[in-house]
Amino acid sequence: MDLFEWQAKELFAKYGVPTTKQVVVTSVDDVRAAAEELGGGPVMVKAQVKAGGRGKAGGVKYAPTADDAVEKAGPIMGMDIKGHTVRTILISEAADIAEEYYFSFLLDRANRSYLAMCSAEGGMEIEELAVERPEALARIPVDPVAGVDAIKAMEIATAGNIPEAVRDSAASVIEQLWEVFTGEEATLVEVNPLVRTPDDQILALDGKVTLDENADFRHEEVHNGYRDTSATDPLEVKAKALNLNYVKLDGEVGIIGNGAGLVMSTLDVVAYAGEAEGGVRPANFLDIGGGASAEVMANGLDVILSDPSVKSVFVNVFGGITACDAVANGIVQAFALLESKGEAVTKPLVVRLDGNNAEEGRRILTEAGHPLVEQVDTMDGAAQRAAQLANGAA
Ligand SMILES: Nc1ncnc2c1ncn2[C@@H]1O[C@H](COP(=O)(O)OP(=O)(O)O)[C@@H](O)[C@H]1O
Ligand SMILES: [Mg+2]
Repeated sequence: MDLFEWQAKELFAKYGVPTTKQVVVTSVDDVRAAAEELGGGPVMVKAQVKAGGRGKAGGVKYAPTADDAVEKAGPIMGMDIKGHTVRTILISEAADIAEEYYFSFLLDRANRSYLAMCSAEGGMEIEELAVERPEALARIPVDPVAGVDAIKAMEIATAGNIPEAVRDSAASVIEQLWEVFTGEEATLVEVNPLVRTPDDQILALDGKVTLDENADFRHEEVHNGYRDTSATDPLEVKAKALNLNYVKLDGEVGIIGNGAGLVMSTLDVVAYAGEAEGGVRPANFLDIGGGASAEVMANGLDVILSDPSVKSVFVNVFGGITACDAVANGIVQAFALLESKGEAVTKPLVVRLDGNNAEEGRRILTEAGHPLVEQVDTMDGAAQRAAQLANGAA
């Protein structure tokens, strides 16, 4: 989960990383009060979107007074930055800047390790620097077990050419940022710019943090508190709450499968079959995983069937450890469960069961005899049938 700058800097403050005071607003009407709360200016007016390059896009403005902040906020609110609409603005104290540095900790998947990146030449041109003069951006591996102590932090600051006058203070900020990185279980903590003020203070003026969603359960308060659902599809929000691996797509055939690989190939097969049916496409990705209990199946069907663009559903299951008879029972019970909630299934379902105990699974579904359920033995055949049904075939 990527965080907004204001959230990243809130976490920084929690770990003692020096940064500027800030107030978040969601309406231009609140900008004056925010600026006044920060002493009336000068302040920075900063678009909060989960995309870089806000400065270059005109989403970061300096405002010497509260009046000016209101004026600058007007055009920023609602602005589109790389496809993200600005709905939140950060009003932050403006700092005096002598120099801008770059710093980040990240998960280095290729080397199964962590990496620190540091440069005395930070700021808005960092992407160009990384391409044109990569030697100016130090990359220092960080042993996950040894971590970052004062000596390691000094090594990083030195490698990044941070000037000697502020190297000590920069190193201690780097140590604090390591605490943020490990304490919050982040996969990225980036500060650009990390600035030196004219009186040699080190301040984090921007923050980009990615939290590891695999660790959500250890940080429920922070992770749930920072989750932004405003730009997320409501069906994805619902699926997330039900603990389902669901991604909304823009087609008409709802897809349920067990195992991410099977579901991905199901999407391909349905898209292919849909070409002959006027361009019918998959409506979602949903992997119900290994278990496939009645409850999971019911939750999955519930989410998919509440998608108004879904015209048919393709349940594609390859029985493995969870055998097909268990899945078939899951489907039958899911129908009953949905019916008891007044959400009876009204769209046609094509079910393909294969693998462990497929015959028994098919028998169970045949016996249940639900009028909207059709069974097709092959994946291609089932995809074709689901596409036809989505295209209005009876
Ligand atoms: N609080 C601040 N005080 C002074 N200048 C700032 C402040 N915040 C940002 N800036 C300036 O604006 C530039 C862009 O802001 P930043 O937050 O880094 O956005 P982005 O990286 O998305 O362009 C920074 O490089 C810095 O020069
Ligand atoms: Mg920045």
